[in-house]
Amino acid sequence: MSAQTDKLTQDTGWAGTSGANWVASQALLDATFEAFEHRLVEAVSPGSGDWVLDVGCGTGATVVAAARRLGEAGRVVGIDISAPMLEAARRRVRDARAGVELICADAETHHFLPGRFDRVQSRFGMMFFADEVAALRNLLTAVTPGGQLDAVVWRVAEDNPFMTAAARAVAPILAELPRSDPDGPGQFRWGDAERVTALLADAGWRDIRFEPLDIGCQFPRSALESYLIRLGPVGRIYDQLDPERQRSVLAAMVEAMVPFIENQFVRFNAACWQIKAIRSLVEAGS
Ligand SMILES: C[S@@+](CC[C@H](N)C(=O)[O-])C[C@H]1O[C@@H](n2cnc3c(N)ncnc32)[C@H](O)[C@@H]1O
Repeated sequence: MSAQTDKLTQDTGWAGTSGANWVASQALLDATFEAFEHRLVEAVSPGSGDWVLDVGCGTGATVVAAARRLGEAGRVVGIDISAPMLEAARRRVRDARAGVELICADAETHHFLPGRFDRVQSRFGMMFFADEVAALRNLLTAVTPGGQLDAVVWRVAEDNPFMTAAARAVAPILAELPRSDPDGPGQFRWGDAERVTALLADAGWRDIRFEPLDIGCQFPRSALESYLIRLGPVGRIYDQLDPERQRSVLAAMVEAMVPFIENQFVRFNAACWQIKAIRSLVEAGS
């Protein structure tokens, strides 16, 4: 792992607090975002011998979903930079069918077998690269000519008020809250379709298409407190606060969630892009 990536991992916290919190919330997150899993793997050809690369595979929900569609003839390789996330993925694919491999590495720089994959897929795992064009080029070389990229990413923060309400509510009372840099690695970094189209094109991807996905998500009200203290920017520092501040921060976050609570459920719209692109059969200059 490069020094730059090492720093990035620590900053985004995937190898540390964020990764551990995501693992602890795995069942809740998988259930909440299941519709995206279906959207992502519906283009995987059932029973084909295809090879699928899952980027930022996390705890492995979309790896398992793709492996189920492919059947034993195909292969899914999940890559993730976070050891705790991948450890959780290992536990869950243990009983899955053959044909799954998990790699703990940086997808930006990992040496994939050139042209080996038919498809690169990712659910919320593409927004964290240090050098985005270099990463997308690396993924391009991993797919065969004619191979596809299929990724689900968040649209801009303004389209996703649920995701930002808690952090906004506590910002005045929590000076140590990590500030998000809209241009740096982070949840909403791929929200600008024009910018990301240019990145993909620069890296050599073709037939680039963005489709808006607006999916109604929900989870039980009873899970709200644990969601708030584990996820997002507050989740990264909540455990370091003294009990009194924890109480006031949690109360402010719950208050900000009131507009999203309905009949014992937390309900929100997840505003995302589904991005598709292909590696051209005819490379420029050939
Ligand atoms: C928001 S989580 C999504 C996890 C999973 N795809 C899911 O939908 O459940 C983002 C994931 O991307 C991983 N990640 C971030 N930067 C990465 C990189 N450069 N290479 C590989 N994985 C990375 C993180 O460790 C984390 O597991």
